[in-house]
Amino acid sequence: GSHILSVNQLDLDSIHTIFSVAERMAPYALREKRTRVLDGAILGNLFFEPSTRTRVSFGCAFNLLGGRVAETVGMASSSLSKGESLYDTARVLSTYSDVIAMRHPDAYSVREFAEGSRVPVINGGDGPNEHPTQALLDLFTIQKELNQGGRGIDGMHIAMVGDLKFGRTVHSLSRLLCMYKNINFTLISPTELAMPDYVIADIENAGHKVTITDQLEGHLDKADILYLTRIQEERFPSQEEANKYRGKFRLNRSIYTQHCKSNTVIMHPLPRDSRAQANELDNDLNSHPNLAIFRQADNGLLIRMALFALTLGVDSQLEKYECAVNW
Ligand code: CP
Repeated sequence: GSHILSVNQLDLDSIHTIFSVAERMAPYALREKRTRVLDGAILGNLFFEPSTRTRVSFGCAFNLLGGRVAETVGMASSSLSKGESLYDTARVLSTYSDVIAMRHPDAYSVREFAEGSRVPVINGGDGPNEHPTQALLDLFTIQKELNQGGRGIDGMHIAMVGDLKFGRTVHSLSRLLCMYKNINFTLISPTELAMPDYVIADIENAGHKVTITDQLEGHLDKADILYLTRIQEERFPSQEEANKYRGKFRLNRSIYTQHCKSNTVIMHPLPRDSRAQANELDNDLNSHPNLAIFRQADNGLLIRMALFALTLGVDSQLEKYECAVNW
């Protein structure tokens, strides 16, 4: 029944619980079974910043458990644009809903909102700070992908590439990975877009190895996981400023084949920037079996269903409220 604002609230036990409930969601996500366990419940899905995957998968996850979704899309459509505080917004909207998912362009805004909320709030991304549900679905994907090849998370090598300064998914994922043993981090970014010092400190204090570089080639040969990110142009003061960095690091089939192990798993939180001047992950890898980007998005639905079931305390009642699939 509590908020999910940061990965720092989690430990290995709670992560394992979330993953085991997520596994039990597969038949419902695949429409093999149906449950109405959240019949009558309402999700407030509040997205004050653009989103495709996170917003729609939060909404569909809630629908798949039998609940209903009330949405606010964009800052302009909400009274925040008239100067209303996050506290007042939360106080009001939390009367209408049983749980709230929220994305907002400012760091720590979701925490501020949660202080005014009378129901649990789940952080769907607060500016450049954190994206805890993405980190959980990334970790869930990493575990599945590595286990399939007989590998595990302990001792693995991960290369994170791109905008590590503003990329909130890598901030959250790094902290989750810190809970495992002997992770080798290679952080590849333009110097100006390096991983924040406080995240690097967390990694080092947990005893993991960190290599920091601004070169892609020559640093990929040990990676079990290659995690690419987009230049977060919406966080830059101008388009021109962001353009300085777009296209600096690109992965395509020929670079992958030349520089990575044959079992390197390719990940990206998406959206990837498909415009020619950026194109950090080329379409010529779309059919590659090691490309896990759409499996990440698929896993996001399971993770968000699990988080709702656990937050609302119905994870043991999924089967009890099963009903027929009638389409
Ligand atoms: N990965 C992710 O957060 O995607 P959206 O911005 O489309 O929600």
